[in-house]
Amino acid sequence: MILDGKKVSESRLAALKEEISAAGLSPGLATVIVGNDPASQLYVRMKHRACEQVNIQSRGIELPGTSTTSDVLKQIQILNRDRSVHGILVQLPLPLHIDTSRIVEAVLPEKDVDGFHPANLGRLFSGNPVYSPCTPKGIMTLLTEYGVEPDGMHAVVLGRSIEVGRPMASLLLNANATVTICHRRTRDLPAISSKADILVAAVGKARFVGPDMVKQGAVVIDVGTNHVDGKLCGDVDFDRVRDIAGAITPVPGGVGPMTIVSLMENTFLAARLQT
Ligand SMILES: NC(=O)c1ccc[n+]([C@@H]2O[C@H](COP(=O)([O-])OP(=O)(O)OC[C@H]3O[C@@H](n4cnc5c(N)ncnc54)[C@H](OP(=O)(O)O)[C@@H]3O)[C@@H](O)[C@H]2O)c1
Repeated sequence: MILDGKKVSESRLAALKEEISAAGLSPGLATVIVGNDPASQLYVRMKHRACEQVNIQSRGIELPGTSTTSDVLKQIQILNRDRSVHGILVQLPLPLHIDTSRIVEAVLPEKDVDGFHPANLGRLFSGNPVYSPCTPKGIMTLLTEYGVEPDGMHAVVLGRSIEVGRPMASLLLNANATVTICHRRTRDLPAISSKADILVAAVGKARFVGPDMVKQGAVVIDVGTNHVDGKLCGDVDFDRVRDIAGAITPVPGGVGPMTIVSLMENTFLAARLQT
């Protein structure tokens, strides 16, 4: 079974548009981008396009790559005070000379629709999330839409980043899965991953997960977005794994669109909580 994130995202966005209109709210999202990295610019454009689709007011702040941490902090303070802005998204990664932690922690937790502020990560870790990070949240939505119930399953997450691996593990744990997190120092990774009922690959290495790493019938979620010969390619060797997996996400068209849906849902939630 192909877990079609594109199809699910379209229906979720259509439903969200109706919910927003029924609520009579005008949610506002501000994006902040520093520098002119083409991939970041593309992601931000996609987020603004989704905002238009669901009637979220979006505003894009573009700061030059020469901006200092203090320049970015000033911008965040302005957005924190702006009552028409319910959600603030700082597009990561920021240029290396900028102190990313200080920026992430400067966003008011109630406007942190990316869910990266320690207050929001702490709530997630304690089992009471408000805003969950968008990519793992989107994956949970996709599992729900396809009737995959993690309760009691063994879930293996490859990767332990703040953006994906760690919050993914927390969400799966909150959904009563038994969770194992793997990383570069994990010994005999295939022996662990091949026991997974749900395998989430978020390592950032093209076709890292081969058939030897997957259990027959497993649900395989591919978070990776790698560019190989000008083409987008996941962390899973899709062509060789698809016959072993019971369900699998494609790249593109799997996790990516679900990430954007989560951002829209978090922004609507932010507007509700701040109104
Ligand atoms: N589709 C989407 O919406 C979306 C959203 C976010 C990210 N992504 C993609 O998802 C991928 C992961 O993103 P990220 O931000 O989590 O990346 P990241 O911050 O670079 O983290 C990668 C993780 O993978 C682990 N890893 C790397 N090589 C490994 C190996 N050989 N064996 C075991 N573990 C290994 C690292 O382990 P250590 O901690 O030990 O170094 C690290 O924890 C990237 O391709 C990114 O572009 C997609």
